[in-house]
Amino acid sequence: MNLIIIGPPGSGKGTQAKLLAQKLNLTHVSSGELLRAAASEDSPKGQLLRDIMGRGELVPSETVLGVVADKLKSLNGEFILDGTPRTVAQAEFMDDFFAENKIVLDTVIVYELTDQIAQERMMSRAKLENRADDTPEVIKDRVAIYHKETEPIIEYYDKQGKVLRIDAAPSIEVILEDTLKKLETK
Ligand code: AP5
Repeated sequence: MNLIIIGPPGSGKGTQAKLLAQKLNLTHVSSGELLRAAASEDSPKGQLLRDIMGRGELVPSETVLGVVADKLKSLNGEFILDGTPRTVAQAEFMDDFFAENKIVLDTVIVYELTDQIAQERMMSRAKLENRADDTPEVIKDRVAIYHKETEPIIEYYDKQGKVLRIDAAPSIEVILEDTLKKLETK
């Protein structure tokens, strides 16, 4: 099965995507991780990505979608895609890409969480990890961008009957169990 995970920053997309990948034998593809690797390069492109991501803004689609598409094309098996698409235009691009490559997207998992809890989780992470975009101001901007740019995707996929909504407030284990159960019965 091929899956996409959507949710606000800090909702636990990456955490759940890794666990689901293990349980379901899927490859976890995270556009954020791919971009952070590219941003760590000592080059003008790396610097540009560091600047954009450090401000919490979206990276231009022409930069990110090629990277994601190349990664998906290189896989043998099925995948769980985390962090892309981020806009309705990106969702349309991905649908064209899936059609061209005879890939069936089965389900779009949407993790639902209040802004407050998402922000608290990112602030806790900031104490442990060193992500340039985990500062109070940038976190606020990332959440605002999610509501404006990314949330409309849920309606886009709802029209295709692909959305699976999951409450992302409980513990990591409970969310995983709930997701697996709902995937089984979808
Ligand atoms: P990306 O890496 O996708 O980051 P994000 O969407 O901001 O999400 P996060 O990684 O902050 O959170 P998450 O939902 O994965 O939660 P996590 O599991 O880490 O994107 C980063 C940037 O890349 C973007 O801002 C943009 O610039 C760029 N980008 C990426 N894709 C793009 C695209 N397609 N187009 C344009 N730009 C793009 O969990 C968060 C914390 O909470 C962790 O510490 C975790 O341990 C903890 N936690 C998780 N679950 C729970 C739980 N149930 N209870 C308590 N704590 C929990």
